[in-house]
Amino acid sequence: MAKRKKVSEENSLSYQDETDLSFRVEKGLRQFKEMYHQEAKIVSRAPGRAEVIGNHTDYNNGFALACGISRSTLVFLAPQNGRRVGIFSNSFPQRPLVLEMDRLVRNEIDKWVNYPTAVIDQLLKAGIKLQGTDILVDSNVPLSGGVSSSASFEVAVAKGLTVLYGENIGNLKLALVCKTAENSPLVESPCGFLDQGSVAAAKRGKFVFFDFQPKGDSPVSATKLVSGDITKDKLSFVIVVDNDVKRMLGETGYPARKKSCYDSLDFWSKKLGRKIASLRQVSVEEFLAYKDELEKLDGVMRMRVEHIIYENDRVLKATNALKTGKTKEFGNLLTESGRSALELYGLDERTPELTLLVNRGREIDGVWGMRNMGGGFSGIALALVENDRLPDFEEELGKEYKSKFGHRLEFIPFTTTNGAEILLS
Ligand code: GLA
Repeated sequence: MAKRKKVSEENSLSYQDETDLSFRVEKGLRQFKEMYHQEAKIVSRAPGRAEVIGNHTDYNNGFALACGISRSTLVFLAPQNGRRVGIFSNSFPQRPLVLEMDRLVRNEIDKWVNYPTAVIDQLLKAGIKLQGTDILVDSNVPLSGGVSSSASFEVAVAKGLTVLYGENIGNLKLALVCKTAENSPLVESPCGFLDQGSVAAAKRGKFVFFDFQPKGDSPVSATKLVSGDITKDKLSFVIVVDNDVKRMLGETGYPARKKSCYDSLDFWSKKLGRKIASLRQVSVEEFLAYKDELEKLDGVMRMRVEHIIYENDRVLKATNALKTGKTKEFGNLLTESGRSALELYGLDERTPELTLLVNRGREIDGVWGMRNMGGGFSGIALALVENDRLPDFEEELGKEYKSKFGHRLEFIPFTTTNGAEILLS
């Protein structure tokens, strides 16, 4: 292998957080050479994200706390002649695909390729001068929905391409390009900014606090890095995932909930006598004053709104609890968030797997907090567990889950990792 330099000191830290990262890099470099008959010039990495707390708050201009996890997408790239992009993903090894940079279209068969297609499209629209490129993708981020495998993929591709063509535009800007890509007709997913924002802004050893009040053309007015040490209480974060549950309702359940929130804004503007542009502008006290009236108008809307208003409040309290070392309180808020997301926001609708994970998991000895993550309707959850109870937690939940659904759960303990970065150049 040609001698390469690491771009920054920090990158070597990421290697420690993902135990098999250097192995994956070496393997990818070899695979790239065999596949494209040239050396990869750039290797970029972007992590999956954990939504620590703040569920469906992003498109309601609210708050959330997130971090990068020790699972990532690696993208290997090198230029080739012409205007074609060759792309191969180890997660979808059916065939390598070719994109025509000047004729980017939606692929209805190999849908995964629509993510990089949309990213390339948006980068070109942003004036980035891309040329023909060979790309290899290697990801170990669970694909079941909940830890943003697609945002991780998009941002890693965007980071790699921009650096390859000498346009390092900054991670938050990249995240915005990727969100626009995901919302565009090439992908058509109505996601908010949480996923791409977290994947881009994450920092090893830190959590990212988002204030989703838009500012100028940015969907966030502030992102702050937050310190919090759960290891002092001998705890770990663990992702619990059933990789066989494919998101059931994701495509209709998400926009339906978003619409419910937006549709309630008229009600709030009338009741509160001021223009309410997002649920972020309604306080808990105001909600309580008009709760019964909203219930009479639309019971489902009342539940959706209640979840969002209290969730914003929980994010602020949880962030503070984490910062000040009140880990019990922090864990309880995670559990409350999970309860509310299921009971009020209905994210386990027709997904009994998620109901069991969240409701059963939180009862197990040694669990300080447990909640769902992400859009919902899939089998994935986040647990805060005492280190020495971890094996029992895995056994108890794994056994019960298997006997009910016949599937094996995967448990992924993680530490917080860096956002999008260049590993080799
Ligand atoms: C998905 C979306 C995000 C966010 C979460 C829920 O991950 O992509 O924008 O809305 O669900 O918090």
